[in-house]
Amino acid sequence: MNTEYGSKITRVAVIGTGFVGSSYAFAMINQNVADEMVLIDLNKSKAEGDAMDLNHGLPFGSPMRVWAGDYSDCADADIVVITAGANQKPGETRLDLIEKNAKIFESIVGDVMDSGFNGIFIVATNPVDILSYATWKFSGLPMERVIGSGTILDSARFRFLLSDYLNLDVRNIHAYILGEHGDTELPVWSQARVGLEPLSRYIEKYKPEASQADLDSIFENVRDAAYDIIEKKGATHYAIALGMIRLTKAVLRNENSILTVSTLLEGEYGEEDLYIGVPAVVNETGIQQIVEIDLNEEEAKAFRHSAKTIKDAMKPIHE
Ligand code: 2OP
Repeated sequence: MNTEYGSKITRVAVIGTGFVGSSYAFAMINQNVADEMVLIDLNKSKAEGDAMDLNHGLPFGSPMRVWAGDYSDCADADIVVITAGANQKPGETRLDLIEKNAKIFESIVGDVMDSGFNGIFIVATNPVDILSYATWKFSGLPMERVIGSGTILDSARFRFLLSDYLNLDVRNIHAYILGEHGDTELPVWSQARVGLEPLSRYIEKYKPEASQADLDSIFENVRDAAYDIIEKKGATHYAIALGMIRLTKAVLRNENSILTVSTLLEGEYGEEDLYIGVPAVVNETGIQQIVEIDLNEEEAKAFRHSAKTIKDAMKPIHE
């Protein structure tokens, strides 16, 4: 528990201090999430530089202990966040990264487990569904203790773009993207809500000029957001880092938050033996419960297609 809520000292270990890891670390010192944060990177000098830089900001942030460490520091961590690995170059898909990153993960997860770590993994490296599954397998931990960032960011993008389109507070938009964090993800339009109104009803009443083409392009912009950002600046990192902070808080503060994360399905949504983005209750135990929302026929079909894409792409890690 965070000291604000309990007495135990909380520790988060961040593996990989590239764009995503260092943005996450920066958000950590701003949001009073944990007592301790250890930064671990193959490039020790980068982790040390980040730790120095972040420590110098502590007088303006929230009190915490930050240092550059190594895998042995994971022994006492409540959460190990993995952001390490190659990221997409312009034009590359997330699935293109699988072989490179699966190898890196085998060694990272092995080193973390050798430290005696017995907490919760949060995985953000792409392809996140497959690497979360790999982390679960390599670690031997129960599935509830390996959480992938899944479609947490895609749902956030979706909510933001809808809020912008409807000129409403994003917190009043309840809408999910499910499936692969990647090209086959799907929007659950049938369950999208604005306040308590179904989205379609809200639009009918208050935005009659809205068109199907507008809604289609909102989803396309969500699905293709990473390509657009990578084309413009080479990487995406702020929003995913904030999504991971949200997940970290849900665990450390035992928030029981429903978030769209990548988790192991064992029959839910008619699928099994894969990690994929679905809504789940997240608390101090990790994944406390998968939430099975009703999908219409078209959405269910898109979900099955997304699941199949992940499973097909997973073959190299089964070999
Ligand atoms: C993103 O969606 C690249 O997966 C990363 O921003």
